[in-house]
Amino acid sequence: MKLLEERIRKDGTVKAGNVLKVDSFLNHQMDIDLFNEMGKEWARLFADRKITKILTVEASGIGIACVAAQHFHVPVVFAKKSQSVNIDGEVYSTKIESFTHKRVYDVIVSKKFLHPEDHILIIDDFLANGCALEGLIDIVNKAGASVEGVGIAVEKGFQKGGDLIRSKGIRVESLAIVESMDDKTGEITFRS
Ligand code: G4P
Ligand code: NA
Ligand code: NA
Repeated sequence: MKLLEERIRKDGTVKAGNVLKVDSFLNHQMDIDLFNEMGKEWARLFADRKITKILTVEASGIGIACVAAQHFHVPVVFAKKSQSVNIDGEVYSTKIESFTHKRVYDVIVSKKFLHPEDHILIIDDFLANGCALEGLIDIVNKAGASVEGVGIAVEKGFQKGGDLIRSKGIRVESLAIVESMDDKTGEITFRS
């Protein structure tokens, strides 16, 4: 998506350790007109799929998913990062390992909000190693629902997540795929 690529070039900054900072329009301050165009694009890309619900994970995925949902007219469910392990069986839970934050956390979704007849579109801001996505897919599988596809804002194409998820036969539509970035020069190249 040209609009997002141009915005990343203009306002994104490359940090050491392969981190792309997009705080001014995606991860902290949020450009809602841009989110709206992203939602419109996912709606176009997934027009052939029946979607009944959008699933994301807190925190950064929520804003993007909510704006996108206005083009799908379905509810948004976000997986919660949970401190306490659930013992009463009321939630689906999985573990997500964050390489960026160097920790493992449990994420949960109430069983009330995911059902076997649901057709899920997963939306998230970043795809890096794919751990967050694997966790969300695991939760959908535990609910017996189906994953219709994944919409990602920024995929870091040089990390393994994109290949990993696509190799499972899951359709991943990333609106910008960063092929390489250089924290010395600030140069960013996109997959075409
Ligand atoms: P993975 O889920 O794809 O395996 O990625 P990883 O563990 O490396 O990422 C951990 C968190 O950092 C995720 O957010 C992910 O969206 C984000 N992230 C990964 N690479 C980048 C990057 O280059 N730039 C930015 N800005 N974020 C990146 P999270 O832990 O779920 O946190 P949040 O949604 O609460 O912010
Ligand atoms: Na995220
Ligand atoms: Na994030």
